Amino acid sequence: MRARIAGTGSSLPGLRVTNDDLGKIMDTSDAWIRNRTGIGARHIAVEETTASMSIEAAKQALEQAGIKAEELDLIIAATLSADHVLPPLSCEIQSALGAVHAVAYDLCAACSGFVFALNTAQAYIQSGLYKNILIVGAETLSKLMDWSDRSTCVLFGDGAGAAVVTAAEEGIFAGVQGSDGSKGMVLSCGGRPVHNLFADREPEDPYVRMNGQEVYKFAVRTVPKCIGQVLEQVRLQPQDISLFLLHQANQRIIEAVAKRLGQPMEKFPVCLEECGNISAASVPILLDQVNRQGRLKSGDKIILAGFGAGLTWGAIALSW
Ligand code: UT7
Repeated sequence: MRARIAGTGSSLPGLRVTNDDLGKIMDTSDAWIRNRTGIGARHIAVEETTASMSIEAAKQALEQAGIKAEELDLIIAATLSADHVLPPLSCEIQSALGAVHAVAYDLCAACSGFVFALNTAQAYIQSGLYKNILIVGAETLSKLMDWSDRSTCVLFGDGAGAAVVTAAEEGIFAGVQGSDGSKGMVLSCGGRPVHNLFADREPEDPYVRMNGQEVYKFAVRTVPKCIGQVLEQVRLQPQDISLFLLHQANQRIIEAVAKRLGQPMEKFPVCLEECGNISAASVPILLDQVNRQGRLKSGDKIILAGFGAGLTWGAIALSW
């Protein structure tokens, strides 16, 4: 059996902050942000939490899949910005949905998180262990931004996306994933330092810091390569793929990948113009938007790809 995506959902905070809005409060401009990244706006949590957005997205995905929460066997939440250290975000989602039979746990692989979670779901379904799985990618990145650092804070946003996957004859047919921890510091965010009765270490920098150019070079090199590996596994050519849904970090990265694969930009939908980069939530939000626009037809072959901190990367080929 394969993991088939049976329903999707997404949720963005109500507050929409445009580049011009940011230009009024810091030394930046719509022209700089748009030209370098393709981002025009982002949604920022005020009342919303990572859990509240996740739950809303999950409910939509369950409704579209026609599956009751009690039928879920597993919930995986991909996030780097849960509301609490404990309990896990996935357990909060389980409780709110009443998914009483589900096992729930979180997975952190930054911007590759949703793709890694989907690969995990595929493995469980293929093994016969679980049938109905909810995957959520959700972030409140605005709380991890240094709002005095214009080189990072203009890039990221908040939101959540979800997918319900079920055991079926058709679905995910190939996946590739990888990590290179030796380059971890090009995109980092400190945690809590050791602080106990015996030690009291210096606090770490609690904000997201990025060497943008290194991450950019990594992305344009690695993403086409791992998509190529997935296609090779199943003996398909890029032209056989209807849509490529990539992590939404930068329009120029997406264009470079399209060029490398020799495919037109129409096959690379984007939501970063409206949402910015939402790490693990980018791919499922884009997937939900494309799905609800009716751009996915039964039997279409699509690719999902994530890349980012870790460094981590992954791609999945599936039949819709
Ligand atoms: O999800 C994780 C994956 N992340 C990514 O894929 C990000 C990949 N990297 C990128 O997208 C690009 O590297 C950025 C968009 C982050 C930056 O673009 P860049 O062309 O690499 O710019 P830069 O960092 O080299 O900065 C160029 C200039 C600098 O000024 P000087 O030193 O040339 O005078 C910056 O101070 O732009 C300045 N700058 C800004 N100016 C206006 C940096 N941030 C801003 C800003 N507004 N927000």
